[in-house]
Amino acid sequence: MSKFWSRKVKEAKPYVPGEQPEQTDVIKLNTNENPYPPSQKTLEAMHGAINDDLRRYPTPTVSDLKRKIANREGVAPSNVFVGNGSDEVLAFVFQAFFEPNETIKFPEITYSFYPVYSNLYDISFQKVPLNADLSIDVEGLYDSVGGVIFPNPNAPTGVAMALDDIERILQNNRNQVVIVDEAYVEFGTETAVKLTKAYPNLLVTRTLSKSHALAGIRLGYAVGHEDLIEGLERIKNSFNSYTINRVSLAGAEAALEDETYYSHIINQVIQTREWASGELRSLGFNMTDSKSNFLFVKPARTTARILYESLKERGIYVRYFNQPKIDGYIRISIGTDAEMKILIEQIEEIMST
Ligand SMILES: Cc1ncc(COP(=O)(O)O)c(C=O)c1O
Repeated sequence: MSKFWSRKVKEAKPYVPGEQPEQTDVIKLNTNENPYPPSQKTLEAMHGAINDDLRRYPTPTVSDLKRKIANREGVAPSNVFVGNGSDEVLAFVFQAFFEPNETIKFPEITYSFYPVYSNLYDISFQKVPLNADLSIDVEGLYDSVGGVIFPNPNAPTGVAMALDDIERILQNNRNQVVIVDEAYVEFGTETAVKLTKAYPNLLVTRTLSKSHALAGIRLGYAVGHEDLIEGLERIKNSFNSYTINRVSLAGAEAALEDETYYSHIINQVIQTREWASGELRSLGFNMTDSKSNFLFVKPARTTARILYESLKERGIYVRYFNQPKIDGYIRISIGTDAEMKILIEQIEEIMST
């Protein structure tokens, strides 16, 4: 604590990201990154962007990328906002649509950045407990005072919500903004983007970090009614006009033109997830029905903490959340088939000692 800190800094409760180990010889299954590299065309585009133009600021309007995203999502460019990772988009969302004295709602077990942003922007929140099967309590998200935010599929459970349920949440929050954070949507559930045409209070956020193997370039976006997009632009332009750097921009545009490659790696991750969940179930593990690029599992014959620590000693990083209600689980990001085979072998060994 320093006397020079503002009240905000003193009271901040920053997000704790998954470990990014220095060693390279570890199997890293702790931050839901894609185990496959970006496509060759994406990498070439980024190499191509390293040129004399770097002395110039990048575009403040990101028009070409917005057009590409709009084509992909079947909306107009005026329905698209682009940010430096969806975390930045979410940070702007909290400032653009939520008010300090109007309590927002989100699930009790969810992406841990939501309470961090709430605290940072002095927004009060109500945590809505999950159902016994770890699905989100849909009706619990009705009738918020200040707005609603949840991921679909939820994190870290991986459990998806049907579009009908999302629609019910929208109908029961007509005067509040509802944010559906679709960071993992491409791994097995339906996007709510089409609902943005009927519901001016819906904003959907997406990221290239997971499905497009581009966590390193920090590129996220939001789709919604143009009034919501304008709100986000007003916050962005009160903060930093040039949030997307030239190299990221080139990579993102190229990635969106290379969907064959990305669909292929997404399908591979889904196949590996199904295989690994079968293996873990046969070892007696319980788990949610994950539609994401990770599994949320309750170990058999050992505790989550011991399994997390034992795997780490063996150079395999998974995520353990030392918090009530989920401290019996570990979250395992889906790696390559080879990585997941090693994981299963190591778990078998740990269980037999
Ligand atoms: C639910 C959820 N939303 C958003 C993000 C942020 O993604 P990014 O900032 O990489 O776009 C994550 C990252 O793990 C996440 O789990």
